[in-house]
Amino acid sequence: MKPVKVGLLGLGTVGTGVVRIVEGNQEDLSSQVGSPILIERIAVKNTEKPRDIEVDPSKITDDPWAVIRDPEIDVIVEVMGGIAGTKEYILEALERGKHIVTANKDLMALHGSEILAKAQEKQCDVFYEASVAGGIPIIRTLIEGFSSDKIMKIMGIVNGTTNYILSKMSQEGASYLDALQEAQELGYAESDPTSDVEGLDAARKMAILGTLGFRTNVELSDVSVSGISGVSKEDIAFAKRLGYEMKLLGIAERQDEEFSISVQPTMIRTNHPIASVNGVFNAVYVYGEAVGETMFYGAGAGAMPTATSIVADLVAVIKNLKLGVNGLKQIVPYKQKKLKSDED
Ligand code: NDP
Ligand code: HSE
Repeated sequence: MKPVKVGLLGLGTVGTGVVRIVEGNQEDLSSQVGSPILIERIAVKNTEKPRDIEVDPSKITDDPWAVIRDPEIDVIVEVMGGIAGTKEYILEALERGKHIVTANKDLMALHGSEILAKAQEKQCDVFYEASVAGGIPIIRTLIEGFSSDKIMKIMGIVNGTTNYILSKMSQEGASYLDALQEAQELGYAESDPTSDVEGLDAARKMAILGTLGFRTNVELSDVSVSGISGVSKEDIAFAKRLGYEMKLLGIAERQDEEFSISVQPTMIRTNHPIASVNGVFNAVYVYGEAVGETMFYGAGAGAMPTATSIVADLVAVIKNLKLGVNGLKQIVPYKQKKLKSDED
């Protein structure tokens, strides 16, 4: 059977997890999609860097264009991060009829509409489950699971790094900087962790969730953001004495036909389910008019949980490819609605 050939952009924390799952679960994955899945080429920044995984050196290049332009490659998995260059790679790959799986919330929050429009034009798939809440399949859930409902509220812990830091400070009295360093060493933080600690990463994820949940076009500028860099051990201890935990919470709410979205450090009563979400774990609470309360919980960052979502997207893309259909189900028919913050 002819293998499906994949080009991987990035072999860092997440890329390494992707290779491990594709190689480790090859038999099961191939039987699900009806052909072997082959990681044909891999782009990295530094080809000399020692890796935690053994990869055929002939597959590795420091030129992402060589991967994008390879006519043999059917699907691009983008796990290198960044915005400007990555956008060009993805648009060119789509132009060439390649399907995309990405973990890049920065890119999807800022340029998702343009990328999805190009995908629609070229009848290609763009799947981005790993861009929000790592291993929790929340994007699929919002698009497919709740297509029948009117989502009224989405609330959650959507950044693993800051939840790890706040949990360490609360439970072990760790210092902010020590906890941040540990989160970086564990591969949870962004290459520039400012976007984690200042709430921007969570804001980008909330913009994606708001767009999908409210079926409208939420811009990053619609999200009001405040991070955790100003939160001290004393603030956390004080909250605890009053019966609260401090969490960086994203809250997206619909009132009539208006929406508001924010990310901010929030004191939550210790008996609330979200207060007991600790470490790298994320949780997303979704309230739908018909379904009522639902909650989704799991690892929000890290190599293997994130790669689980990516490889699941890869399987979905390949199944579509085999069936000759596009996964346009991941493309939301955007309906521009006024956000509450526009009128403030
Ligand atoms: P890393 O920094 O660990 O890995 C990035 C990889 O991309 C590295 O292999 C790097 O090469 C390569 N790379 C970077 N720039 C270039 C370039 N210009 N040309 C070629 N290769 C390049 O990042 P992560 O794996 O942590 O994250 C990747 C993406 O996944 C990001 O978008 C991130 O936001 C997202 N994500 C990360 C999660 C996590 O838990 N870490 C969870 C969910 C999403 P080299 O190895 O040579 O340096
Ligand atoms: N830096 C991100 C986080 C990675 O800590 O949640 C997962 O998107």
